[in-house]
Amino acid sequence: MAPVKKKIGVLTSGGDSPGMNAAIRSVVRTAVYQNWQVCGIRSGFSGLLTQDFVFLGARDVSGIIQQGGTILKSARAPEFTQEAIQQRALKLLEEQHIEGLIVIGGNGSHAGALALSLKGFPVIAIGATIDNDVFGTDVAIGVDTALNITLEAMDRLKVTAASHQRAFLLEVMGRHCGYLALVAGITGGAEAVVIPELDMTPEAVADQLRRAYERGHAHAIAVVAEGARHNADELDSYFRKYESRLGFELRTTKLGYVQRGGAPGACDRLLASQLGAAACDHLAQDQHGTSIGIVKGRLTATPLALAAVREHSLDPDLIELYRVLAI
Ligand code: F6P
Repeated sequence: MAPVKKKIGVLTSGGDSPGMNAAIRSVVRTAVYQNWQVCGIRSGFSGLLTQDFVFLGARDVSGIIQQGGTILKSARAPEFTQEAIQQRALKLLEEQHIEGLIVIGGNGSHAGALALSLKGFPVIAIGATIDNDVFGTDVAIGVDTALNITLEAMDRLKVTAASHQRAFLLEVMGRHCGYLALVAGITGGAEAVVIPELDMTPEAVADQLRRAYERGHAHAIAVVAEGARHNADELDSYFRKYESRLGFELRTTKLGYVQRGGAPGACDRLLASQLGAAACDHLAQDQHGTSIGIVKGRLTATPLALAAVREHSLDPDLIELYRVLAI
């Protein structure tokens, strides 16, 4: 057997997303294939600081590809913006003889990865967040599964909405990004989408729902992104206040964390497997300081200095597609 060459660390951080486990599995197995050792770091950057380490071999990641969440646990670590904390993290990585780190998570996790990378530590990040706001990948790990969960909820809402001729607001997550709401709107056939990227007044949302009834729709569903300027709470109170003038009854459902907790579907398992393996391959070639994603169907390494700072913006063609199809 060839001598062990390298020891790498892997952690998941920020809000969990379906497929994180598949990414951990891919990192571990690709690393083992390369004859490396893997140190799993529990609870993200916080666990790095508290030295919550676990050795991960190929069999330790058996049976997790189909599980939502993350076996390594996740956490947000706001303290990781502090210089002294970052220095301590570097010292602990060195003490563990960890020579490279793979960070799986969203924007905050990319910021943590960038901080260590700027100090010279070899880090690679992988975009995993249901928000789909990571710059440098067309789709982040977890988005597809979260969308499918949203669609299931929409299909159920349509049944009850049609029975009562009611309108529904369905609030979805996404932080400041409207991707989940927009794509759920397109693929679930919503009568309106309310997203941060498009400024819509409550009156305009009401108009769209009313016009849907006038065109003969049996239901009227608006998917509302949690980060929209007029969010679901605001729209709900507006509709209740003017219910008699608007001429339809409205109910509001917030999907919230339900979207994050699903078992990953095939798309997320495959994406996570590809990105985890690619991250190890890049480390093996001594290429780091990047976020690994898929852009226009191709594996892409985007400098962390860009990926951690910019946000993935909504494709205007998707907005146009929604407008055309929602007639
Ligand atoms: O970033 C993922 C996400 O689920 C967002 O959509 C949401 O706004 C946020 O996390 C919720 O954060 P927390 O898990 O810290 O409550």
